[in-house]
Amino acid sequence: MVKIAPSVMCADFLDLERNIRDMERAAVDFFHIDIMDGHFVPNLTLNLDIVRLLKSISKTPLDVHLMVENPENYISRLGELGVEYVSFHIETVRYPFRLIREIKGKGMKAGIALNPVTAVESIQYVIGEAEFVLVMTVEPGFAGQSFIPEMLEKIALVKKTIDSKKMNIQIEVDGNISEQTGKLCVERGADILVAGTSSVFKKGVDLFSACVDFKKLMNETII
Ligand code: DX5
Ligand code: ZN
Repeated sequence: MVKIAPSVMCADFLDLERNIRDMERAAVDFFHIDIMDGHFVPNLTLNLDIVRLLKSISKTPLDVHLMVENPENYISRLGELGVEYVSFHIETVRYPFRLIREIKGKGMKAGIALNPVTAVESIQYVIGEAEFVLVMTVEPGFAGQSFIPEMLEKIALVKKTIDSKKMNIQIEVDGNISEQTGKLCVERGADILVAGTSSVFKKGVDLFSACVDFKKLMNETII
């Protein structure tokens, strides 16, 4: 089953609780939480307080995407808040083995995120430690950008690496994942799709039905 993870930074913040309930009713698999620090990426978004709030009102698992320098500073608090999945960017760390061990030690699934320009080879020795790989299909930091087509080849390469080593690692894709690009990613092996302004958060479109339809459509993709 292909999973969907709507990106909470794209939600209507004046009506956040209703958005949350619509996504829960649609049985989305995760809420994708982008945390930025204004250093690794030139933007600021969600934070640990939002994570705490979401945890207090919803049982939907949280998939936290850290787009920050020094991701190790946030791991123990994310663990205490009961976060399920957490990814960090390989570009931000010197000791990824240690960080992954810390994430797992706090009871969370560990993911390695790759900027579009970062080669799959950069994680070849550490990929086996991770539970998922997040392939950025746009430059990180902003919603509403265009899909970088070269990333399809990268997804296929990550998939090939995982399969050749018979590893049980999921592939998540993030950035301009629409009905069209989502299908192409699934065909190359993506398991989790981040759904933002390109799919479920569209002006005038009902969020509940958009989530139901998007998940259904992505699961009809023939591999
Ligand atoms: C950045 C974000 C964005 C965004 C996804 O990491 O996760 O990729 O919210 O939404 P769109 O579809 O606008 O790219
Ligand atoms: Zn993200």
